Amino acid sequence: MIHSDSGARAIARRHPGAVTRAAALAAALLGLPVIVLSRAALATGPEAAGETARNPFAGDADAARSGRTLFNETCAHCHGPDAVTGLAERNLRHLRLRYGDRMAETFLTTVLHGRPDKGMPTWQGVLDDATIWKIYTYLSSIQASDD
Ligand code: HEC
Repeated sequence: MIHSDSGARAIARRHPGAVTRAAALAAALLGLPVIVLSRAALATGPEAAGETARNPFAGDADAARSGRTLFNETCAHCHGPDAVTGLAERNLRHLRLRYGDRMAETFLTTVLHGRPDKGMPTWQGVLDDATIWKIYTYLSSIQASDD
């Protein structure tokens, strides 16, 4: 009895080690596909960036309304009241025509980091995310489709 108990304990003592080794081997074998998968995820850079540029207010009419006010208070002196301007490079009604599926991403990058060399200020740390996305919601609602 005593003898078999100590035998069982001896096996139990060895067993976790065996499990650990098996897990380590499995992890090593799984490591390759995991690395390949994470490389594949990195390869989708623009899509991943697009993920972060998803408007939380998409289709929200109230957000578009406050976005219009925020735009006219903050952006209109350079981009025109209600985003009507004669300066093509500042025309924010042409974002969809210009950037298509990358519109949200381009908007966010430009607003956060500005284009200091072109006279577009940096808004990161000045406007919060909600304000930026409300302005975007407004601009999305007034995109020109014909010119
Ligand atoms: C001091 C003037 C000024 C203000 C204020 C300003 N912008 Fe701009 N913005 C510019 C200029 C100039 C450009 C054009 C840069 C260029 O030529 O690429 C621009 C470009 C942009 C673009 C890129 C347009 C494109 O088609 O590539 C976006 C988006 C934009 N601004 C959004 C905003 C928003 C939103 C605000 C308000 C929060 C704002 N801007 C306030 C001057 C300004």
